[in-house]
Amino acid sequence: MTQKRILLIVGGGIAAYKACELVRTIRKAGHAVRCVLTKGGSQFVTPLTLGALSEDKVYTDLFDLKDEAEMGHIQLSRQADLVVICPATADLLAKMHAGIADDLATTLLLATDKPVLAVPAMNVRMWQHPATQRNVIGLRADGVHVMDPDAGEMACGEYGPGRLPEVERIYGEIAHLLSAPSSGIAAQPDFTEGKHRPLYGKRVLVTAGPTHEPIDPVRYIANRSSGRQGFAIAQAAAELGAEVTLVSGPVHLTTPPGVIRIDVESAREMLAEVEKALPADVAIMVAAVADWRAADEAEQKIKKDGKSVPPLALAENPDILATLGKHEQRPALLIGFAAETEKVVEHAQAKLAKKGCDWIVANDVSGDVMGGANNAVQIITKDGVESWADAPKDVIARKLMEKIADAVGQG
Ligand code: CTP
Repeated sequence: MTQKRILLIVGGGIAAYKACELVRTIRKAGHAVRCVLTKGGSQFVTPLTLGALSEDKVYTDLFDLKDEAEMGHIQLSRQADLVVICPATADLLAKMHAGIADDLATTLLLATDKPVLAVPAMNVRMWQHPATQRNVIGLRADGVHVMDPDAGEMACGEYGPGRLPEVERIYGEIAHLLSAPSSGIAAQPDFTEGKHRPLYGKRVLVTAGPTHEPIDPVRYIANRSSGRQGFAIAQAAAELGAEVTLVSGPVHLTTPPGVIRIDVESAREMLAEVEKALPADVAIMVAAVADWRAADEAEQKIKKDGKSVPPLALAENPDILATLGKHEQRPALLIGFAAETEKVVEHAQAKLAKKGCDWIVANDVSGDVMGGANNAVQIITKDGVESWADAPKDVIARKLMEKIADAVGQG
């Protein structure tokens, strides 16, 4: 790999000492690294140490006129191929998310047009605080690469997520970003063009996957839904700048970047989490919610007695989509899916009316759609029916989100 230039911002936290090791690792890999030390960072490591390891000047003060003359903060941020914040404190993440620029580090984070990798490290409660989580989600939606911290025992004696990831893992992420295709580095979204992020500031709620309805502690009723279509929709929404909450039944899928994921098992749990996630501007109910659950969930495993088969009485589950359709916080755009095996449009039109939603995305599940990679859908609205050709689920997801953005976005 050709030599690249990394601008390393060292924030104020006990993990700052590990930034020294990171500087050595970057240098060893043959790249140049220039350090910016925040006021807090300088409580933990000295400019002298970082200067010696990076073999470069260390920058600390925005109002150092000599530096401003020689190297303005704009150039400092623009000359790098990649900006890395390590450790990224809760304070730095918050300022960056809010666009505050009150020292050299935050000013150049606002001025940079280069990819930014933030490596958080902080106390577990600070990491888990809704304010920090909101900032992380917002930053990811802005195109900032925010690593997940490691979990384990912390310097403060508490246990949980918040530890700085191992230097090896951080460097792995740096190498990955430096070697990304084309110009090497995925550019940040162009904020001057609103159409890249037409759902910025909008809250999108998505349900996905099957639900599991317990019969006894070891058995349940389920269906073949994989969750892939719902996850692809959540990802496409986040890519268009929305703040996305994904309420998912049991699936084997990783959470798309920038998406808040809430895992549930049963339809009743899913309804409770969906209601907690309101208000939302758009809700897309992709989950294949079980229509029925076992009327009486046995507390102990039901045993075979060799004589009779136990009866299975069913009770109807709440209809989440229909509940939202008449909810006092009904999302402005409410979209349901309809899995049909025959008379697709006719049944979907009936669902549109019955459930009080605005659009129905209907699909014929008589083939291998459920759990498969492709989907062919028809979009049913009060104005008519649009038929989309069979395509991979992520292509359908992007097309659907673009249609949604046209309907509700600011683009
Ligand atoms: N849905 C829901 N809650 C339920 C059942 C369905 O929110 N208890 C939602 C699904 O997420 C989907 C839409 O309703 O967006 C239609 O789901 P589908 O299974 O096609 O329809 P049902 O209402 O279950 O009707 P039927 O099974 O009779 O076709």
